Amino acid sequence: MSIRLSELGLRQKPSDITRLMAIAIERPDMLSLAAGFTDNDSLPLEEVRDIVNDISKAGPSGKSTLQYGSNIGRSELRSILTKRLEAADTIESGGLDEARMFVSNGSQQSLYLAIQTLCDPGDCILVEQPTYFVFLEILDGLGVTPIAMPMNEAGEVDVEGLEALLKSMDKAGTLNRLKALYLVSYFANPTGHSISESTKSAIGSVLSQLDQTIAVIEDAAYRELYYETPHSARSCLSVDTFTGMPILYTSTLTKPYASGLKVGYAYCTDESWMAAMLSVKGQQDFGTANFAQAIVERALSSGSFDRHVTELRAIYKQKMETLHGALESKLSELGWAWPVPGGALYLWLRSPNEMRTDGDSDFHAACIENGVFYVPGDLCYPSNRIQDRIRLSFGALKPHDIEEAASRFSLAAKSMTRAVSG
Ligand SMILES: Cc1ncc(COP(=O)(O)O)c(C=O)c1O
Repeated sequence: MSIRLSELGLRQKPSDITRLMAIAIERPDMLSLAAGFTDNDSLPLEEVRDIVNDISKAGPSGKSTLQYGSNIGRSELRSILTKRLEAADTIESGGLDEARMFVSNGSQQSLYLAIQTLCDPGDCILVEQPTYFVFLEILDGLGVTPIAMPMNEAGEVDVEGLEALLKSMDKAGTLNRLKALYLVSYFANPTGHSISESTKSAIGSVLSQLDQTIAVIEDAAYRELYYETPHSARSCLSVDTFTGMPILYTSTLTKPYASGLKVGYAYCTDESWMAAMLSVKGQQDFGTANFAQAIVERALSSGSFDRHVTELRAIYKQKMETLHGALESKLSELGWAWPVPGGALYLWLRSPNEMRTDGDSDFHAACIENGVFYVPGDLCYPSNRIQDRIRLSFGALKPHDIEEAASRFSLAAKSMTRAVSG
């Protein structure tokens, strides 16, 4: 007799990436350009040790960091995060309300809570194409359908196309199942693209003309991880056309500080949505680890966070340039192309002549054979999966391993080009 799982339990399947990683793990010599892990050598161990020392000397308030905290998150941390968000959006102090800020177990948790409290199975969410593939897995797991928004050559949402899409959904009677629109707006995973403020503003105008309310989920996980200059667009929270709409802005302290502390945060403009998310969070964990929050709170207030993220920006810029340079010298002449990102951890490659690079392709097999591993780009598309893209992540590998990985990748590319032309 087998166990009887819930509908949700039955819907779950192993993620594509886990399946592919299992193949890679069988090969210990494999260099992975797949996982979005952060740079290991620069993780702030000494800084965290000093912070923990300070906490240990702080008497009862220090001790209480090892006690359960509140469901919504530490108030000092929420206040600091709110002020930082105001500064990033260049709005006056007090323009945002810290009561709307909550701390989550990574931003991943707030994305999940957002969909869980907004959607029933059969509902739909508008997404960019490509988009963050683990978000697509959330939707899949919850029985929610992603609808691809049309995109233009610049990698931005084609706003006229979006308008037409919404009209056609209305005509087909499916618009009432549409609950939200999801944007990865700063140095996106996987493309590195940042959305312009004019596109955000135009999206806000289109949504505001609808007869029904569509929530906006803005995922700003990489906003702080620019290499030289922050992306100038303000968040949807501060763009006029979104005024009055339910917006959830999510971001994280994992990528720019310590991924292992797993502290993320979210700002929600809608009272009932926020209350529902917090109730579910209460049922799940009644609060993100208080000790981890206390550490990042001190890192932020002491300046240690800002010093660290400044170092990280230079490290990731250098890693990006190492991978970009190593690939450019070998692959450009073969017709491979990719944009050079201004932040985050990824290169987004397009193969020549639409050569397939998905998990079942010869190219993927050739890379595994050569001992290098990547995320097939098709996983980042909600439907009509484009099969000639690749996400390469340079966060975790050491610089010399990045060069070796690039050379293995290039060998596979060369062998495939020979195979195609030969
Ligand atoms: C676009 C995007 N959003 C959200 C997350 C979740 O990150 P975390 O839970 O560490 O905050 C990630 C992680 O890779 C990401 O790439």
